[in-house]
Amino acid sequence: MNMSSAKVTLSTIAAKAGVSVATVSRVLNDEASVSSEVREKVRDVARRLDYGKPQRRARKTRVVGLIVPDILNPFFPLLTKGIENVSKIQGYHIIFCDSEDSLKGETENIDKLLDFEVEGMVVVPSVGENRRIDELVTDHFPLVLLDRMINNEQSCTVSADNLEGAYQAVKYLINMGHRRILHLAGPANLNTGLDRLQGYQKALQEAGIEYDEQLVINGGFHFSEAYEETRRTAQGPLPFTAIFSANDTMAFGAFQALKEAGIDIPGKVSLVGYDDIPFASTMGLTTVAQPIYEMGRNAMIMLLDLVNERIAAPQQIVLRPSMVLRSTCQRIGEL
Ligand code: RIB
Repeated sequence: MNMSSAKVTLSTIAAKAGVSVATVSRVLNDEASVSSEVREKVRDVARRLDYGKPQRRARKTRVVGLIVPDILNPFFPLLTKGIENVSKIQGYHIIFCDSEDSLKGETENIDKLLDFEVEGMVVVPSVGENRRIDELVTDHFPLVLLDRMINNEQSCTVSADNLEGAYQAVKYLINMGHRRILHLAGPANLNTGLDRLQGYQKALQEAGIEYDEQLVINGGFHFSEAYEETRRTAQGPLPFTAIFSANDTMAFGAFQALKEAGIDIPGKVSLVGYDDIPFASTMGLTTVAQPIYEMGRNAMIMLLDLVNERIAAPQQIVLRPSMVLRSTCQRIGEL
């Protein structure tokens, strides 16, 4: 693999040598606790990859990478459109990767992009921690985290204010008279899921409504689990008058399940989603609009600033979501 030393990381060597990053680190630091066979293998790979030689200017491939967690979720193509808009104008090409919501898939995609000598990459993480991303950030490889964060304060990020968006959604339902609000939550290992849950809790607390964890269903941002969980809940007397879903695809699942159970929206149950993906308007979904296209554009602009060394310190951009009122909510008691 002909990679400039600027892109060869401990994890690149580890992957090629078939050992852990910790072993590579011990070998390169001449620690005794490694067998001579493994030591030689690691040193051989490091030599072949020119690791540690004076940093040569990376070849300008004018190619960047984009990694998303789930291409089947309409949120991500719109995010990609914003990125592509900027990359096309600036004469860059994108290699697109789908991690299928897995750390393994995400890590393999990162290594493949490095092999293709991309000048930088935009990553929407599938999980909240990824050592490979930490290593690239430490190595000052041009990388922007988009929409979802990992626990690394040195990373450059573009996101929207998830807590505020969820708070506005639940406050809207409370102002419509709802006090028993089911929350279809996002993944607990993602900041977007956690921050929206916190926004839900903040609105309840501010209104003096007791938090009932029985009214929180942990989802994975997918249609299927929201459909199944809502269908199961709808088999008995409904313990809620409204649903706040952490994204639109889960709101669609809840909508489908309630409709099949003969439960009228918004007459019997009010429904609010999150994202405002293209199909939300088709079904009249009241939702929280994320500035999806702008998030993509901002991420690509930030990445090009990193690639061209125009950014000295880590940057974080946080955009504002907004409520979009359509036809899936009704005031309590309204006919
Ligand atoms: O619908 C997919 C969700 O994952 C969106 O809400 C987006 O914010 C991402 O976190």
